[in-house]
Amino acid sequence: MDDKFFTGYRKTVIKPSEILVSIFLPFTSANEYMYSFKQAGRKEDDISIVNAGMKIHFKNETNTIEDLSLAFGGMAPTTVMATKTMTGLRNKEWNENIIQTACQLLEKDLPLPPGSPGGMVEYRKTLTTSFFFKFYHFVQSARSKVLNGLPSMVLTERPLSKGTQVYEEVPDGQTIEDAIGRPIVHTSAYQQATGEAMYVDDLPIYRDELALVHVLSKVAHGTIKTVDASQALSIPGVVDFITYKDVPGNNTWGPVVFDEEMFVSKEVRCQGAIIGAILAEDIRTAERAADLVKVEYEQLDHIVTMEDAIKKNSFHDGVEKELMLQDGDVEEGFNKSDHVIDGEVHIEAQEHFYLETQAALAVPKGEVGEIEVICTTQYLSLTQKIIASLLGVDRNKVICKIKRIGGGFGGKEYRNMLIAAPVAIAANKHNRPVRCSLDRDQDMMMTGTRHPFMAKYKVGFTKEGKLSAIQVKLYSNAGFSKDLSVIIMKKAITHFDLVYNMPNVDIVGGVCKTNIPSNTAFRGFGSIQGMFVTETIMTHIAELLDQCPMKIRDINMYEEEGSKTPYGQILDNCTIKRCWNECLTQAEYEKRQSDISNFNSKNRWRKRGMAINPVKFALSFVAMEGFFNQGGALVHLYTDGSVLISHGGMEMGQGLHTKMIQIASRVFNIPISKIFISETSTDKVPNTTPTATSTGSDLNGAAVLDACEKLMKRLQPVIDANPKGNWEQWINAAYFERVNLSATGFYKTDDLVYDTVNKTGRLYSYFTYGVACTEVEIDCLTGDHQVIRTDIVMDVGRSMNPAIDIGQIEGAFTQGYGMFVIEEYKVSPEGTLLTRGPGNYKIPTYGNIPAEFNVSLLKGASNPRAVYSSKGIGEPPLFLACSALFAIKAAIRAARIEAGYSKIFRLDSPATSCRIRMACQDQFTVQFPPAEKGTYRPWYVDL
Ligand code: MTE
Ligand code: MOS
Repeated sequence: MDDKFFTGYRKTVIKPSEILVSIFLPFTSANEYMYSFKQAGRKEDDISIVNAGMKIHFKNETNTIEDLSLAFGGMAPTTVMATKTMTGLRNKEWNENIIQTACQLLEKDLPLPPGSPGGMVEYRKTLTTSFFFKFYHFVQSARSKVLNGLPSMVLTERPLSKGTQVYEEVPDGQTIEDAIGRPIVHTSAYQQATGEAMYVDDLPIYRDELALVHVLSKVAHGTIKTVDASQALSIPGVVDFITYKDVPGNNTWGPVVFDEEMFVSKEVRCQGAIIGAILAEDIRTAERAADLVKVEYEQLDHIVTMEDAIKKNSFHDGVEKELMLQDGDVEEGFNKSDHVIDGEVHIEAQEHFYLETQAALAVPKGEVGEIEVICTTQYLSLTQKIIASLLGVDRNKVICKIKRIGGGFGGKEYRNMLIAAPVAIAANKHNRPVRCSLDRDQDMMMTGTRHPFMAKYKVGFTKEGKLSAIQVKLYSNAGFSKDLSVIIMKKAITHFDLVYNMPNVDIVGGVCKTNIPSNTAFRGFGSIQGMFVTETIMTHIAELLDQCPMKIRDINMYEEEGSKTPYGQILDNCTIKRCWNECLTQAEYEKRQSDISNFNSKNRWRKRGMAINPVKFALSFVAMEGFFNQGGALVHLYTDGSVLISHGGMEMGQGLHTKMIQIASRVFNIPISKIFISETSTDKVPNTTPTATSTGSDLNGAAVLDACEKLMKRLQPVIDANPKGNWEQWINAAYFERVNLSATGFYKTDDLVYDTVNKTGRLYSYFTYGVACTEVEIDCLTGDHQVIRTDIVMDVGRSMNPAIDIGQIEGAFTQGYGMFVIEEYKVSPEGTLLTRGPGNYKIPTYGNIPAEFNVSLLKGASNPRAVYSSKGIGEPPLFLACSALFAIKAAIRAARIEAGYSKIFRLDSPATSCRIRMACQDQFTVQFPPAEKGTYRPWYVDL
């Protein structure tokens, strides 16, 4: 095998009639050394960005190079040999000077024009020379038989994972039946682990069922000239091609404002918009036919990036004016400041990547327009409402239900409509059951992501680092329609204070309208992006003052009682300082920081860094949308003593049903094995609130509690009549006494009153707090990294279920780590999604979990504002993963200081291996300056 083996992209010299029988790998001979290198976005199961195999043969025992082989992957369509470098170095002396020569020759061997497929051109070039530099040192240490050169060139090996989970036991005297506060296993954990758990795609096939496959727009912006489905329709088994013409009711929809068409009639505004859908007897036929639908467009100018949207003033109507938060006087604040800095930072998109893709099954009932839709959604009542509106029927004819979804993370709050509605329209037209279960690529192309954000800031502070004035412009890339983008921007703005006293603030939000699929809710709902800007600013201040970032955060932090947010809410029961101090202790912060300095002083090419970051997350829907703060439940008692609960919340893996069952177990004082939740359905509990904003257990839990308490009251006379009896006897007796054994429950958060003009009152019900401290090690030459340890202390009030709450903390942290460090969502300048499916889009995996992961729930915490003193926990911990990014930043800073580069630099999210490597500026990065913007067509753009 030599440089002639590969003939083109994924092509080799092997003829169709030949097969590869064996590969012979010779042992190295005396004076011969061989090493290989690979850098990928993720360590496990990922294609390399650049890889290399390098072999050297010395003349006898001398330092003279007899022969050299250098092979590179990721630098051209095929694996290539660096022939100029190989011949150029032959017969040369192997010493430090050779590195410089090799770098020059490698640049000639491996030209990669700007805009090459795969992008990251400067990074890839830098990797080739960095790999060679490593190779040089590996060979040197092997030859000198002293291995001390080697370890400082590679990351410390990842030890076996370990971790601790610390929580309080239930108080003495709590009955055995009462499950509140106990680490009960998720009620469907075993079914999910074995595969027995049913999802939409697992439901048995109906006789006459049809499969639906969407036909999506392939241009970002244009008008449809013609749609030709004749070829598709001629395939046996294809039943129909449906379009906007088949919508009997209103084809426009939206979660807040109706600004989208379900099926595009004329103007497409993003790639991935629905032009129509093929119906066929089976899914494969439908897929094949969908590819054959021909659409001709007249293309119009498109906007993909925020930069472009700002330039062209493309915002979702004038919201910039509406989205503002001002407090104090910034000008005066700046005047009083010892320092004023400005900066910019970007946060990129994140794909939801729920395990179960979006799916729906619609079953028409054959009479008077009745239809049942089983669909992946976090918001059944809206799905019901939109389907009724599209079909032009009353909502009492449409039942929407679901047992569970395989993850939602906000992605199934609204964008699920793009699946459920077409399926319902098709079923209605043909009076046959219709099912659609998206493949991953389609799901990624259609359903939107977390909003990319960018921020421009100007900040004033004292010489100690106390904030005195902040002026920020936040922009988000919303895509073509509003969806929830305006509310998401508001959440970003109202979380911008994070946990810090901000005397003078001026925050403005701009929601950019672009030709990409509509971006939507994603765990954290905009708060993550807002708070990331705040932490970037706090770090910037520390970098400028050469102070420990922990100290800067500490001196600006809110007090336990009485601190006031910029929107005027007075904080009570604010536990942030307690979480902070406990986390500092748990993480042995001071000691480990000095260990890190020690490590860094001994290692030039690998560095460690540690960061501690807080979170404060509002629980409840915002006061202005206070109507959402309601929950409903329906509880039935059967005469065998078993209990069936229905409530308005959706199970998406977060353990909501488990907690609801625990609540009933306390009220009834019966074991959880007697209590069951089957599904969530609009005919059991109507007009539900979306299971979102981490309020599921607060709102539905209080409603379940209400229903159970009503039943207990009704049972009391039979209990009093037979106090020694058991639960089954009481229920039985109650039945014969003709006691109503079914009750509805209801709850509303009714003291949320906020005055938007005077900025007084309660904007949010309460806050969940937490702190994380993370340590990382980076490889300065490749940008590789390893999360060494994370410690988290979280205030979840009095946990209803510590196993589930800690699971949410660990899970949210890992998902956040994906967003802040690993995941890369890449879109071409034409708005085409380049990173489709799990082969291209990498979420964190086992090797990304902190090697040591310690989670503690804050002791002695309580919360008078939610059921049994608990707190919502689903989203708050996600932000804590920014500690991995800021730890990386600290490590990069150490490398830059040693290399003599500026200590102040920008680090956008995600901190990918490319960003890490290029920020560790050195003699290798300077060789490859980035090409000037506008002089070439980039492979992907920053959204
Ligand atoms: N956990 C799992 N396993 N799967 C999910 O889809 N979604 C998150 C969070 N935790 C999610 C999850 C999001 S975005 C929210 S808003 C909350 O759960 C919703 O559930 P809760 O209100 O019951 O906490
Ligand atoms: Mo969660 S983003 O509120 O569904």
